[in-house]
Amino acid sequence: MTRPQAQNVAPIVDCRADFPALHQDVNGCPLVYLDNAASSQQPSSVIEAVANYHSHDHANVHRGVHTLSERATDAYEGARDKLQSFISASSRSEIVLTSGTTESINLVAQSFCRPKLAAGDKIVITHLEHHSNIVPWQLVCEQTGAELLVAPMNQDGEVDNESLENLLADDVCMLAIAHVSNALGTINPVKEIIAKAHALNIPVLLDGAQGVPHMRIDVQELDCDFYAFSGHKMFGPTGVGVLYGRETLLDAMPPYQGGGDMILEVSFDGTIYNELPYKFEAGTPNISGVIGLGAAIDYLISVGMANIAQHEEQLLEYMTEELKQVEGMRLFGTAKNKASVQSFLVDDIHSHDLGTILDHQGVAIRTGHHCAMPVMKFFGISGTARASLALYNNREDIDRLVEAVDRARALFA
Ligand SMILES: Cc1ncc(COP(=O)(O)O)c(C=O)c1O
Repeated sequence: MTRPQAQNVAPIVDCRADFPALHQDVNGCPLVYLDNAASSQQPSSVIEAVANYHSHDHANVHRGVHTLSERATDAYEGARDKLQSFISASSRSEIVLTSGTTESINLVAQSFCRPKLAAGDKIVITHLEHHSNIVPWQLVCEQTGAELLVAPMNQDGEVDNESLENLLADDVCMLAIAHVSNALGTINPVKEIIAKAHALNIPVLLDGAQGVPHMRIDVQELDCDFYAFSGHKMFGPTGVGVLYGRETLLDAMPPYQGGGDMILEVSFDGTIYNELPYKFEAGTPNISGVIGLGAAIDYLISVGMANIAQHEEQLLEYMTEELKQVEGMRLFGTAKNKASVQSFLVDDIHSHDLGTILDHQGVAIRTGHHCAMPVMKFFGISGTARASLALYNNREDIDRLVEAVDRARALFA
């Protein structure tokens, strides 16, 4: 099927030249990268920052008096400052550097919740969470006898806010909710939800893995207690992420892990822990990853988060409209307020077959359950194909996606 292609609309953001990985052929076709919700590509500035550290400045941080260690420490701590300002945290002590969203959430479950929880206490999550925002809470519930309550969602993939509110009560010790759903793209109305939870003194953790790459985050404006995110979904390296925590809460929490750097003094009689945020950063950290994440923030700021949000909003609208025109198309995730992620199935083609056929045409999408099995169960399916956009995607990418889906349909006809 031939469609008119709307390629003459000037993009708000035009930055493909900055991303070397985008300029390659895959299976004989120019690469179209639409798997950004899983992991995004890195601009040259991030790759160079990491290479520069490895080439010139590699040494351990916080420990050495020599020049290379000082340079490494300055770049590492400089990235923390950038992170603080990027998400508008009130203090650099509130920026705990972790290996990613998963570790950040586990840290809160084990260090903030576990000591407080007793049998009968409740933790509330929602039906659309990533496994990283389900399993850490199941673990802590098993350890303490607390109960995990799940707020339902509707057919559009929106959390049922009334049901969620009904779950919030005095015995709830934590509300943990995705800012943006990775499987469905839903943007939850987190500011309103946080206000309601706080009215009952319930602390709130936002899983921001899919929020930070797409919109400006201001943790003070959101008034969240914890915000977790990963570097590799925001154009930085893998194996690095952040836990933002309100200082008063972090201060009162016991360390998550023991080891070097998280201590002030150790003796066999006992240990005095380091001040924030180092109390939560045991052992040698991912130094190059953190430096790369700092460069990713510089890059995002140079493009402008408002430009990115606007660019992706327009692209999402275009992608949704184009996909809807494909015969046999079923879209999953049709919330009113969405980020640039679209899950779909077409005819009765298995999502993995669809992904493989698209890959043969150079189009990279994600297929399967997207680490959100309860979402798949809700829709009665085993998985979806998911196209997820980033700042470097454009309408041509979407045209290529739709052409590739058409070709898959033709193959299976
Ligand atoms: C919403 C959400 N939360 C958590 C995670 C886990 O992130 P990471 O694997 O970087 O820890 C992901 C990753 O896909 C995600 O999309």
